[in-house]
Amino acid sequence: MNQQRLKTQTDAGTGSPADENRIRWGKYIKPYLPFFILGPILMIVEVLGEVVMPRLLAFIIDYGVKNDITDMPAWLKGLYDLCHTSPEATNGPFVVAMAAGMILTALLMMIGGVGGAYFGVKASVNFAADLRADIYRRVQQFSFSNIDKFNTGSLVTRLTNDVTQLQNFVSTLLRMAFRAPGMLIGALVMVIAMDVEKGTRMSLVLAVAVPIMAVVVFLLIRLGFPRFTAVQTKVDGLNANVQENITNVRVVKSFVREDYEMKRFEATSADLKKTGMSAWKLMVLMSPLMTLCMNAASLSVLWFGGQNVMNGAMTTGDLTSFITYITQVLSSLMMVTMLFMQLSRAIASGRRIKEVMCEKPDITDADAAQPELTVQRGDVEFRHVTFRYYKDSEGKVLDDVSLSIKGGTTVGIIGSTGSGKSTLVSMIPRLYDTDEGEVLVDGVNVRDYSLYNLREGVGMVLQKNVLFSGTIEDNLRWGDEQADEATLRKAAESAQADGFITSFKNGYKSDLGQGGTNVSGGQKQRLCIARALLKKPKILILDDSTSAVDTATEARIREAFRGELKDTTKIIIAQRITSVMEADQIIVVNEGRITGVGTHEELLANNTEYKEIYDSQMEAATTAAPLSGKEATSLG
Ligand SMILES: Nc1ncnc2c1ncn2[C@@H]1O[C@H](COP(=O)(O)OP(=O)(O)OP(=O)(O)O)[C@@H](O)[C@H]1O
Ligand SMILES: [Mg+2]
Repeated sequence: MNQQRLKTQTDAGTGSPADENRIRWGKYIKPYLPFFILGPILMIVEVLGEVVMPRLLAFIIDYGVKNDITDMPAWLKGLYDLCHTSPEATNGPFVVAMAAGMILTALLMMIGGVGGAYFGVKASVNFAADLRADIYRRVQQFSFSNIDKFNTGSLVTRLTNDVTQLQNFVSTLLRMAFRAPGMLIGALVMVIAMDVEKGTRMSLVLAVAVPIMAVVVFLLIRLGFPRFTAVQTKVDGLNANVQENITNVRVVKSFVREDYEMKRFEATSADLKKTGMSAWKLMVLMSPLMTLCMNAASLSVLWFGGQNVMNGAMTTGDLTSFITYITQVLSSLMMVTMLFMQLSRAIASGRRIKEVMCEKPDITDADAAQPELTVQRGDVEFRHVTFRYYKDSEGKVLDDVSLSIKGGTTVGIIGSTGSGKSTLVSMIPRLYDTDEGEVLVDGVNVRDYSLYNLREGVGMVLQKNVLFSGTIEDNLRWGDEQADEATLRKAAESAQADGFITSFKNGYKSDLGQGGTNVSGGQKQRLCIARALLKKPKILILDDSTSAVDTATEARIREAFRGELKDTTKIIIAQRITSVMEADQIIVVNEGRITGVGTHEELLANNTEYKEIYDSQMEAATTAAPLSGKEATSLG
């Protein structure tokens, strides 16, 4: 099942959803096409209602209240006559008929409005959910070096805030895409039709107001776009800051850096505020500007329309509907502005999402020559391996490394910090790929295995390891989902973890805080080892994994390994010579090169560097003893 899951993941990585340099947005629309279509259609129903409504009101005012039917349109005349069964009947039935028409229109508008909004939301939420899932899937495919490129905060922002921006835009687009132009065109048609019918020139008001508004809208969009892009980048910075701080809040506290961190946060936050203000000031400016235009236009309509009414060219009802139409035209322009503003933010977010989606996972097994092959013996060989983290940097992190490890043996790796030990072993499960040379497992290039089979065969306890929230049992099952209690227990016993686990009140069911915060450093390391053991790997790599475990317990772990992992290749990186001195073979690493290989005795005799490390540790051990004695007396 695991294999199936990983396979589909890698398959997805080779084709959809992102090809080389673009995202296929259609993929997120297609399954919800009915919603994407129904939403806007229902919105048109609402717009039609909005356009018809003022006319119905005008009929009531002109023919119902003022009772002057001289220029009544022919089609309405029929209805009017129907309502007047006798010449002396009142206008009541006609007004009621018109009011009923208005109520019916309002009902239709409501259905259109609610339905349109409903389908719009349904479409946009689904769109966002699928997109988010794809970004997440892509991040899961990332290799270590892909992840090195983005910081975690930024990835989180892209998965949350940026997707939400797009979702909001899609939802607004679906609601406004037809509504704004529909209302604009509908109202314009009505105004011009009335002008033609009555011989007035009221549309001239619009001929002046619309271009002015259009210029304002254009300017706002031009100015707003870069500002909203900047806001998004600042949100990113803030998230990165918060993410780093909150994840490492314990370190912050232990260094009493709360004040410094607070100041740093305030600075980032102030920066975001400033950028946000400059963007929103524009939006704030927009509102009164638009209202000013709208009021000026209404005033002109009243002025010219009033004259028309007085000289009999227009009726009062016409004037009321004119004012409504003018407002509709201008507010539809306002909607367009909003839409473009959101578009500018959506484009900025879309670009950032694209960066993630188009980042090519640089370690895949698409070209694996023997994807079915699994690790059998656990032999490891490095042939002239060279590696740099930054491809353009001068110095090499691994420089022409060659070595050979026989399956089932125990190998210790020792060397000063930063010498490249972790980098060296990370080549085996392909956490990073070599720049030059090759790494072979069982005589086969690691690139020829499927990632699943290779990593199933190579168990690695990372130097910076973490546990996840959940119970101890849940965490151990990362190694083997199907493991029964006895198997879990056995692995924990080998890792010398069973003792402390059973001492907890809930035993294996004890909850670990996020990142395993409620166990000690050494306990955490032992849980990580147990988790790796459950994978039953052919090659087990422990990267400084017992550094926080006392020497006696560490010796028991080594003892257990000797008994139970006879056929497993054990590669142990350590700072303490005692951790590796019983190994079949010890590798000394210095500045990315292998400077010595041999047993403890051989190295002690031939390798000055190894001897220096040994001497310094022995010296420290002997000087440490009287020190602790002194401490004890002074304390006593
Ligand atoms: N992800 C990374 N990106 C860039 N440089 C890195 C990365 N990881 C390690 N390095 C650099 O590569 C070099 C080797 O690092 P590596 O982690 O392999 O050392 P190490 O021998 O494991 O050290 P330690 O004993 O402290 O764990 C160091 O100079 C380090 O700064
Ligand atoms: Mg290391």
